[in-house]
Amino acid sequence: MPESKEIVAALEKIKSEYAAAAKAAKSSAELGDWKAKYLGKKGELSSVMSSMGALGAEDKKVVGRIANEIKSAVEALYEEQLEAVHSSEYLARLGVVGDVTLPSVGVPRGRTHPLYDTLEEISSIFISLGFSVADGPEIEDDYHNFAALNFPDAHPAKEMQDTFYVSSVGDKEMLLRTHTSPVQIRAMKSGKPPFKFIAPGRVYRHEAIDAAHSYVFHQVEGFCVDNKTNLADLKTVLEMFIEKYFGKRLPIRFRPSYFPFTEPSVEVDVECLVCSGAGCKACKNSGYIELLGAGMIHPNVLSNCGLDPNIWQGYAFGIGVERFAMQKYGVDDMRLFYKNEMRFLGQF
Ligand code: DAH
Repeated sequence: MPESKEIVAALEKIKSEYAAAAKAAKSSAELGDWKAKYLGKKGELSSVMSSMGALGAEDKKVVGRIANEIKSAVEALYEEQLEAVHSSEYLARLGVVGDVTLPSVGVPRGRTHPLYDTLEEISSIFISLGFSVADGPEIEDDYHNFAALNFPDAHPAKEMQDTFYVSSVGDKEMLLRTHTSPVQIRAMKSGKPPFKFIAPGRVYRHEAIDAAHSYVFHQVEGFCVDNKTNLADLKTVLEMFIEKYFGKRLPIRFRPSYFPFTEPSVEVDVECLVCSGAGCKACKNSGYIELLGAGMIHPNVLSNCGLDPNIWQGYAFGIGVERFAMQKYGVDDMRLFYKNEMRFLGQF
């Protein structure tokens, strides 16, 4: 017949062991075994408690209270451990390792590339001025990239743009588009005037890379065709665009130039942002920076697209996105945009 002293000793032993044993149970299966050992019908607590039946009333009261306290503590610990084991098993299923309650070290957040931000910004200004957005293939044929744009075969103007040729398709010579102007041809051939589009995208030139050149870069083409548009409209649209993009009214200059697909052709310069026109290294002491090419669409281009140049007329322009981004952010080397260098990209 066990005496109350022995029973109390057995209870003390359980009390000294159960918590560490629970902490050692790392899975719900192990915790189940632990529960059976301490709380099960044939478990240690039950067998100690059943042996209390033979004790005197007074002892039973004292020992019973100790036993019940231990039982409640074991039950509470069980609930607590069950939750911990379940959540660690859940995290393991999700592939999470480590202590998820530790403070985070900060997850680096991704963002769009500054060139794409510039492309988006330029596009959204033109959209606000009533332009729609058109698209065209980056692998073009000679017809859309050159011939339809009034580049005569073997004309020296073709040499203005060194071209990456890819394999021919049938008798069509295929190439990586050297500018976004072919989108003008595609849009005019597949729709009816009036047109007022921009065509943002990537273009390719067979060029050596340096601070101001790359073999792949971005342009935003713009063109507007109707029966009344003139050079003054082009000037107004570009002035409004430049003011919105740079956030202030800057003196601009239209300089006569030559493109096969426009007549007259102009190059548009803006007063140098670095020296405000006084002359500096950035503008080669001219006080102006060359920004984009533009002009009135050549009658041959309109007729190549089936439009009667006596009825329809329009303007076009081509914007170099890299050049705009470099001007706005004071970047002096185009290559920085393509290096995926986080210290550079993180500044935008
Ligand atoms: N396509 C020309 C280039 O890449 C840029 C350009 C100039 C586009 C004048 C135009 C334009 O639409 O009117 O060099």
